[in-house]
Amino acid sequence: MSDMNSKVPFSGSAAVETYLANGYDSVVGMSSRFAAAICARLLRLQTEEGVTGPIAEIGAFEGRFFIALAHALEPGEMALGIDIFSWPNPEVKDRFEANCLRHGIAPARRVTMKGDSGSMSPSDLTGHAGGEALRFIHIDGEHSRAALAKDLALATACLKDGGLIVLDDMLHPGYPTLMVAVQAYLDANPEIVPLCVIDRETIVGATKFVLCQKSWFERYQARMLDIFADFIWPLGADFEPHWCLVLSQDTRLADII
Ligand SMILES: C[S@@+](CC[C@H](N)C(=O)[O-])C[C@H]1O[C@@H](n2cnc3c(N)ncnc32)[C@H](O)[C@@H]1O
Repeated sequence: MSDMNSKVPFSGSAAVETYLANGYDSVVGMSSRFAAAICARLLRLQTEEGVTGPIAEIGAFEGRFFIALAHALEPGEMALGIDIFSWPNPEVKDRFEANCLRHGIAPARRVTMKGDSGSMSPSDLTGHAGGEALRFIHIDGEHSRAALAKDLALATACLKDGGLIVLDDMLHPGYPTLMVAVQAYLDANPEIVPLCVIDRETIVGATKFVLCQKSWFERYQARMLDIFADFIWPLGADFEPHWCLVLSQDTRLADII
């Protein structure tokens, strides 16, 4: 298994690279640096494809992943950090805001939304984002099937054309039933498909799924084959019958002879 010094893809942004190299490990959090670099590069890809606008993270915690995403935005684009901000203590909100400031995300570039995402409406989110639909939503909040189903419905209702939904802690040994919610969601929303799987780095830096609208799948995947060429695990992911890329720091196959 790879360690924190393993090779990660170029994030597409000097500001993200600086944060990943000098700040990421100092902010308490759970997402992997590998996934942060890939998601920042996906934001860059969206920009290149003309998909612009605000983003959100459900479960911003102390800001580790949020800051990386926010650094990948263009001037004028807003990042919403959503969390109940009560775990492990109420001061976590202050730490989130202090970390953002320390690592270059000024208050004008972000909105802190304290509350239960399960009781938020799409207009709560878009209303805090200048009335615009969102182009990227990272879901890393409450890890129950019911909560993930609600967060997926909320994200889908807020998503703009060409938008991406990223799900954390997929296939995590501690949360095996989350996959059940994802499968039910994919069955009920055939216009949404997995775009790629971002492999785990550690048990804490777990696997993420990236979802997109079916109409964008070929367009994004064609670019990703080139952008992430060094990180593509050859067999891909079988979502029966849909296939998508698996991006990993370990692209070996099993020795069978
Ligand atoms: C695993 S942590 C997120 C880690 C963070 N995304 C990172 O990469 O460092 C999960 C977060 O979800 C938040 N959370 C749990 N239930 C929530 C809910 N119903 N609404 C909003 N946030 C929630 C918790 O307060 C916690 O901060």
